[in-house]
Amino acid sequence: DDGGPDPEKHCGHGRGGMGEEVKRKEDKRFITGRGNYVDDIKKPGMLHCEIVRSPHAHARVEDIDKSRALDLDGVVAVLTAEDLAAHELATMPTLMDDTQDVLVNDKVKFQSQEVAAVIATDRYVAKDGAEKVEVDYEVLDPVVTAEEALEADAPLIRDELEDQEDNHIFDWDVGDKEATDEVFEEADVTVEEQMEYQRLHPAPIETCGCVADWDPGKDKITVHLTSQAPHAHRTLFSQVSGIPEHKVRIVSPDVGGGFGNKVPIYPGYVVAAAASVVLEQPVKWMEERSENIQTTGFARDYDMTGELAATEDGIIKGVRTDVLANHGAYNAVAQPSKFPAGFFNIFTGSYDIEAAYGSLTAAFTNTAPGGVAYRCSFRVTEAVYLIERMVKVLAQELDMDPAEIRRKNFIPADAFPYESATGWNYDSGDYEKALDKALEMADYDHYREEQRRRIEEDADKLIGIGISSFTEVVGAGPGKSCDIAGIEMFDSADIRVNPTGNAVLRVGVQTQGQGHETTFAQIVAEELGMDVENISVEHGDTDTDPYGLGTYGSRSTPVAGAATAVAARKVREKAKSIAANELEAAEEDIEWDRESGEFHVAGAPDRSITITEIAAGAYMNHPTSEEPGLEAVNYYDPPEMTYPFGSYIVIVEVDRETGEVDFEKFVAVDDCGNRINPMVIEGQIHGGLAQGIGTAMMEHVTYDENGNCTGGDFMNYLLPTANEIPNFETGYTVTPSPHHPIGAKGVGESPTVGSPPAIVNAVVDAMAHAGTTHVEMPMTPDRVWEALDEAGLAH
Ligand code: CDP
Repeated sequence: DDGGPDPEKHCGHGRGGMGEEVKRKEDKRFITGRGNYVDDIKKPGMLHCEIVRSPHAHARVEDIDKSRALDLDGVVAVLTAEDLAAHELATMPTLMDDTQDVLVNDKVKFQSQEVAAVIATDRYVAKDGAEKVEVDYEVLDPVVTAEEALEADAPLIRDELEDQEDNHIFDWDVGDKEATDEVFEEADVTVEEQMEYQRLHPAPIETCGCVADWDPGKDKITVHLTSQAPHAHRTLFSQVSGIPEHKVRIVSPDVGGGFGNKVPIYPGYVVAAAASVVLEQPVKWMEERSENIQTTGFARDYDMTGELAATEDGIIKGVRTDVLANHGAYNAVAQPSKFPAGFFNIFTGSYDIEAAYGSLTAAFTNTAPGGVAYRCSFRVTEAVYLIERMVKVLAQELDMDPAEIRRKNFIPADAFPYESATGWNYDSGDYEKALDKALEMADYDHYREEQRRRIEEDADKLIGIGISSFTEVVGAGPGKSCDIAGIEMFDSADIRVNPTGNAVLRVGVQTQGQGHETTFAQIVAEELGMDVENISVEHGDTDTDPYGLGTYGSRSTPVAGAATAVAARKVREKAKSIAANELEAAEEDIEWDRESGEFHVAGAPDRSITITEIAAGAYMNHPTSEEPGLEAVNYYDPPEMTYPFGSYIVIVEVDRETGEVDFEKFVAVDDCGNRINPMVIEGQIHGGLAQGIGTAMMEHVTYDENGNCTGGDFMNYLLPTANEIPNFETGYTVTPSPHHPIGAKGVGESPTVGSPPAIVNAVVDAMAHAGTTHVEMPMTPDRVWEALDEAGLAH
């Protein structure tokens, strides 16, 4: 092998390989309105499903009267838990081994929970029918926060579970408690801060839904599903329904954003599939916006205490954290690791910290279940927020520059591979380089000066500068430590080169807008010397694609991207023997030249052959020592995860009169190892930063004390629009992953993970001179104004 692409020579060789800004192949159909989403699918005789939802957060269902709904013209069936029980579908497993009612069996446990389903010939009739289903409830006292849920006299939410005497789910801890306590006792300085990572929702523009189509002639069900993980969903569908897996086909067509929301299985999917089997007609279920926000996988909801112990000159010796997690009514967290809190273990961040200890308690509440990895790798967002906020708190306590304190504590570039105090193996990094670049791009010294000037002049608008030098962990597996329902987290690629020299790549991951049809083709172009235009990428159909675990947690490039490179190299190996046959040379004398993409005889560069000619040879003149054809499959179990990182610097202006925050400058320097498509990466960074701004400034799924979701639609759950988004200045460094075949790390979630602490640090920084150490997210103008007022800075 030639050692893979060279990061210094990223040019794609003009064929659209690694490093070229190839325009996204998928955009032609998207911008011409030819995308094909689940709700675009219409089948002859298709019925529609609407869900009857509980208005109460905690209530016993006394009676359900279907008669008025069934009287409505066009209503075909009304289903309740009793009907599903006859088909052993009353409950379904969550991704965390809990059992969730598909339709409420006895007791409602969160507002908008699924109580009954109406199947009708038309969506509007189904909706009218749902309004006519009469449900009698005995309303019970709800418990909304994790803190209340753990009080001794709190109402028991999960009374159907044997041995469940309170609302406690689990306790978990990591690190060396004794060693950490000791470091804290001996430390010159300790700091502590309480912070909440509020409940968020991924809120993809396309909500969740499916079209289930049972074929009684083949005893086979085809489900078009808004799925980030079609194969894992096929296995789970088969397990829940009892339909053999080879008789289940999941098709995930174009997906309008997933962000972790389309990883779990939801009751609507099960109801639509059951209805299709029983009625022998296709059944569509598609959520409305409020159903999506109020009932499907939320994210975060961690109440965290952070502590740091340090020397006088700012060397961090220890980190301690304690977390209270609200998991909602069922334990339905979507994370595949053996750790109950996922990858929260990485809370030591980018710093070389001697001792670390973290503990976490999770509780049931009368709120929707969830805990999905919203554009993040399984709780890494919470961990990054904690450590990056705490470093700022410490810098303030020591009156040190927050850039300087980071520099003093970074894991040094020559210390990789590095094992953290919580036992995580970082593959590579150069944190100081990324920070230096960001400081330069941000004109840091100038803004520090400007900040001082405004304070001295008692100006109306204060300047705040926030830094986040985050490290991420993406690319789950390896299979030995990560699985979904026992299936190890590998991923796959299948390349078939056609006789005319073009190729089809099928992968086990499923894009939701990340541009895989382009970037995965670029990997093949790079590794086979083909033109990127001659490679098409297919995914999302379990009948044709190789088994894979899906796309979330930025795992596509680290895992399926690696599988693609390995499969392409297998094709290249076989291509050598065909080249030898065509060039009448010995196979060991055939060399492949990455630059030209051609195969030639060693020492005779003009005796060369292209991959197109080889493809023809594979089918029309194959060597007798080989099978005909040119294809390869790879199932890739990564040896480790990859650790992308970056430094973000945010400069804000805080209005002392209104509490409004304006972004003056937003610099993001990312390192995702070798870069496949810089333009796609930039798009990923822009989108992720927008979501980070939403997180820091406006998004929050709120509940009132009765468990009514008061932040469950786009009037109340505020998403950032172009108006709130500043111009981003992006930069990069390249520190390849040593174990990835093309040296790449994931990137999609870095900006969402890395930016909220930079933004909060900036707002806090504007008031730091008056003693403010924290402002809770979302930093709405009223919250910021209150913080200004408390610090005596409000005008
Ligand atoms: O799993 P997901 O696709 O969400 O995340 P990812 O692996 O970080 O990839 C997001 C997009 O960025 C994909 O189209 C990748 O191929 C591309 N990317 C890239 O061009 N270079 C990298 N080093 C990492 C990702």
